[in-house]
Amino acid sequence: MSRLQDKVAIVTGASRGIGRAIALRLAGDGANLVVTATSLERAESVATEIEALGRKALPLACDVAEFEQVESLIKGTTETFSRIDILVNNAGITKDNLLIRMNQEQWDDVIAVNLKGTFNCIRAATKTLMKQRAGKIVNITSVVGIMGNAGQANYCASKAGVIGLTKSVARELAARNIQVNAVAPGFITTDMTAALPEEVKENLSEAIPLGRMGSPEEVAACVAYLASEDADYITGQVINVDGGMVM
Ligand code: NAI
Repeated sequence: MSRLQDKVAIVTGASRGIGRAIALRLAGDGANLVVTATSLERAESVATEIEALGRKALPLACDVAEFEQVESLIKGTTETFSRIDILVNNAGITKDNLLIRMNQEQWDDVIAVNLKGTFNCIRAATKTLMKQRAGKIVNITSVVGIMGNAGQANYCASKAGVIGLTKSVARELAARNIQVNAVAPGFITTDMTAALPEEVKENLSEAIPLGRMGSPEEVAACVAYLASEDADYITGQVINVDGGMVM
């Protein structure tokens, strides 16, 4: 039997990059998926890929920053699958700028999606998870939430916030057998990092002990482990998937 056979997993921001890799990996491990993106069309495209793996997939449009939309996402999930075993909060954005030039919109938007979006999803899913007395929540943070990064004060604050949220919720839900952990990717090859100039990417790779950027699949492997029963005794942790960048 596969590790996540017939588990029901929600992955936010699953249309591309790390979220897509996580959704495909969980499906490969036997789970049925609810995949969300801001556009239904893009969610449908990854759902088709999941169905090709022989698993069920429910595509839904959902802006995680909007609590009502997140409530509909959870309702849609339980109506279709009757339960939620795994929630992966992956949706995230960047709006980089030096602090001196950062405007309120750049600050608010990044906090709204990355931090409030993670809260919204956890808040809306928790009642179901508590009733089940079982569940896994995996939040995608970032190594820069630990170490900081010039030009990303909004993003780093949001990701540091996700770490505090992870640890607090882990403590609150432990008695209900719900494990809450975070994965902190380093530099991963996705659309988010594609925009960086080649020179910057080369310099970054030099700062990584393993000497290269990571792949979305390498992040997905860690998420799949934390979402499985193999990780039943792990909660409140942040696991870096970063080639040794932060030790
Ligand atoms: P990406 O830009 O390729 O994909 C982001 C996904 O989030 C997309 O599916 C997008 O539609 C979705 N999304 C954006 N705003 C949303 C909203 N308001 N509601 C719902 N979904 C929304 O990014 P990537 O690289 O795949 O990043 C995924 C996660 O990993 C993010 O949380 C990011 O912060 C984090 N991360 C990425 C790293 C990297 O090097 N690529 C490093 C560390 C963390």
